Amino acid sequence: MASGMFRAATQSSRALRSAAAAPTVRTLLSSTTSRSARAVLQRTLRPTLTASFHTTPLRFTSEVESNPMKETPVITPDNITVGGKTYPSDKFTNVTPTILEKTTRQLHLIPKHPIAIIKDLIASGFPGFKHYDTFPPVVTTKENFDDLCFSDDHPGRAVTDTYYLNEKTMLRTHTSAHQLQVMTESDKILVTADVYRRDEIDASHYPVFHQMEGAQLFDVKTAVDVIRKEIAQSTSAASGSVHTTDTTLITPENPKQDCHDEAAMLATADHLKHSLNMMVRKLFSHEKDLQVRWIDAQFPFTSPSWEMEILYQGKWLEVLGCGVIRQDILNNAGKPDKIGWAFGLGLERLALVLFGIPDIRLFWSKDERFLRQFEPGTIQKFKPFSKYPACIKDISFWSNDQFHENNFCEIVRDVAGDIVEDVQLIDEFTHPKTKKRSMCYRINYRSMDRNVTNDEINVLQEKLRDEVVNRMKVELR
Ligand code: DAH
Repeated sequence: MASGMFRAATQSSRALRSAAAAPTVRTLLSSTTSRSARAVLQRTLRPTLTASFHTTPLRFTSEVESNPMKETPVITPDNITVGGKTYPSDKFTNVTPTILEKTTRQLHLIPKHPIAIIKDLIASGFPGFKHYDTFPPVVTTKENFDDLCFSDDHPGRAVTDTYYLNEKTMLRTHTSAHQLQVMTESDKILVTADVYRRDEIDASHYPVFHQMEGAQLFDVKTAVDVIRKEIAQSTSAASGSVHTTDTTLITPENPKQDCHDEAAMLATADHLKHSLNMMVRKLFSHEKDLQVRWIDAQFPFTSPSWEMEILYQGKWLEVLGCGVIRQDILNNAGKPDKIGWAFGLGLERLALVLFGIPDIRLFWSKDERFLRQFEPGTIQKFKPFSKYPACIKDISFWSNDQFHENNFCEIVRDVAGDIVEDVQLIDEFTHPKTKKRSMCYRINYRSMDRNVTNDEINVLQEKLRDEVVNRMKVELR
């Protein structure tokens, strides 16, 4: 998955996409585009924004009609209107109509949608927590990055990885963007929302997914006693057995914050891990011997930090990132006398596993055959409807310095939408004399609900070839 923006800034962008994202099944390419090159590329992408926005969002009867996120977004050459608000565009602007249409969907608010079902199940394990799930996805760069101690050069800020409405306004890349705001209001909070990251295309990657953020704060003075009592009293309600391995240690690489009292920090960390162990135990109560492990991690906004992984079908799957909240953030929230933990988890990742959903695009399906399979409050295995044949097309070109795979995938999404199942780089070489780089991508077109004809795909592929030349200035081969 592309830049899991949220680990240490020193890692390569591609290796960074983290715990709270949708599942990472394979690592594709390394991201080598320089910052200045990205800025140039961004300008070449801007003309797409003049496209008018046609898609009519699907309405569900249970929706609150007054929800401004349900209003159709509008893009003009100068402005973007989304969620009933208008933002002037500038050279950072890179949101597209395809992406803005997703902001109207609000899957986590559709009661029988698997994302909402998982959301409710997890939230029921955190009684007494105030749950915010209607925050609009447009946030400031201050909320998404600065308030959370991201460095100025953190790769997560790159225009290749993040959707910008303009220099200071963006689609949130994680629910942590609301941490500061909600922590001023309560000491026990959950935030569920749609989050947006520019990304590659395959069965487990999608540029929009859903996260749940949780945080709990304690009075520093009484934290140790309160936490020890609470852990001692809590019992597991679930019947399944969970085997948890935790060999993590507090080290200089994953340190205690200087300002923290060691006992209070250790108690907070124990409470965090205990709460999350209970949460997975509840979600996976049907699994006989669930293996869970804790590993060290790094996030700009927590220290120490960890990730939880679960062993699923022979592979360790990252489920969430978490840690002890940076005291600066609590101080800025007006809570200097508190110590606290926070976590962020990816809901698609859990839903794919628990419901056995084979392709992440299905969550966005408007096909009744998908939605009618699920009931609020229960996890039942998805019964696939027929798989339609694929239509495969290759596109080869001489690349250039500004080329970035996420920009290429964005054009593919704009042209063909969810009909594209997978995009893979199948060949790459540098010409020995001219030093020009040749790339060949294979596009796998497959609809989830109907047969596609070769003729209709040819039209899309031709359009893609034109757009790639226009917008990326590459030379087709
Ligand atoms: N925001 C992180 C991400 O999207 C996940 C995360 C990690 C959230 C640690 C947290 C946290 O609240 O403490 O990758």
